[in-house]
Amino acid sequence: MPLLQLEGVSKRFGRVVVADEITFQLEEGTSTGVVGPNGAGKTSLFGIISGDTKQDDGSVHFDGRSLGSLTAPARCRLGVGRTYQIPQPFEHMTVFENALLAAQQGAREHGHESYELAYASLERSGLAELANSPAGSLGLLQRKRLELARALATKPRLLLLDEIAGGLTDLEVVELTSVIRELQQDGLTILWIEHVVRALLSTVDRLLCLANGEIVADGEPRQVLASEAVRRVYLGGAIINEPTAI
Ligand SMILES: Nc1ncnc2c1ncn2[C@@H]1O[C@H](COP(=O)(O)OP(=O)(O)O)[C@@H](O)[C@H]1O
Ligand SMILES: [Mg+2]
Repeated sequence: MPLLQLEGVSKRFGRVVVADEITFQLEEGTSTGVVGPNGAGKTSLFGIISGDTKQDDGSVHFDGRSLGSLTAPARCRLGVGRTYQIPQPFEHMTVFENALLAAQQGAREHGHESYELAYASLERSGLAELANSPAGSLGLLQRKRLELARALATKPRLLLLDEIAGGLTDLEVVELTSVIRELQQDGLTILWIEHVVRALLSTVDRLLCLANGEIVADGEPRQVLASEAVRRVYLGGAIINEPTAI
């Protein structure tokens, strides 16, 4: 049974179609990238999976269970974790408190266990040294790391990453990608929206390209990038970054 299954999912905001009968599934333990131009519906797709956005039609199943009637917090507790394109931590709380809240609310851990889970998530994300800093004092890379730590502290089985490498320097991208690859090696199922294609290529084994709410290409990453459909979507322009080794 696939871990995630979308069947005929459609969603529009007024006249803007953000999902047009989207059907795909993810097997447990796989890593899949998502590319597509701005406005393609990538973030909306994450919202539909995580429960932040309600679809008009179609179904989403997680581990064989329909998510249709479940709120975002309930989906999180089932194991759907996500990061947000624009990090919005609780600025006046410390980095540790942000992770702790995720462990207590998302993973339903209490007392000692919640502290251990929060700290372990910060360690995994490379933020342990900043545990006592106010989240509001963090720079962009650290905010991205905190997004990841908060998602991990909810004990996800599926991790949705929304442009976690966006806006970072090359070196920062390399650092963050190596963290994500470790999570992948631990068997976490990953769905990763990213414009930094070389980060995706070093990690994912499948790539989806979304345009106007439709999956226009799906398959082996390099083949997808070279496909006619993807070239058309990007109007013949280079798709952001040449794939270089990380
Ligand atoms: N809550 C909303 N209300 C109205 N329009 C929205 C909403 N969320 C997204 N959109 C619109 O839907 C389109 C797709 O947005 P989004 O899913 O964020 O795309 P992407 O992440 O691929 O850039 C955009 O045109 C955006 O303006
Ligand atoms: Mg987006």
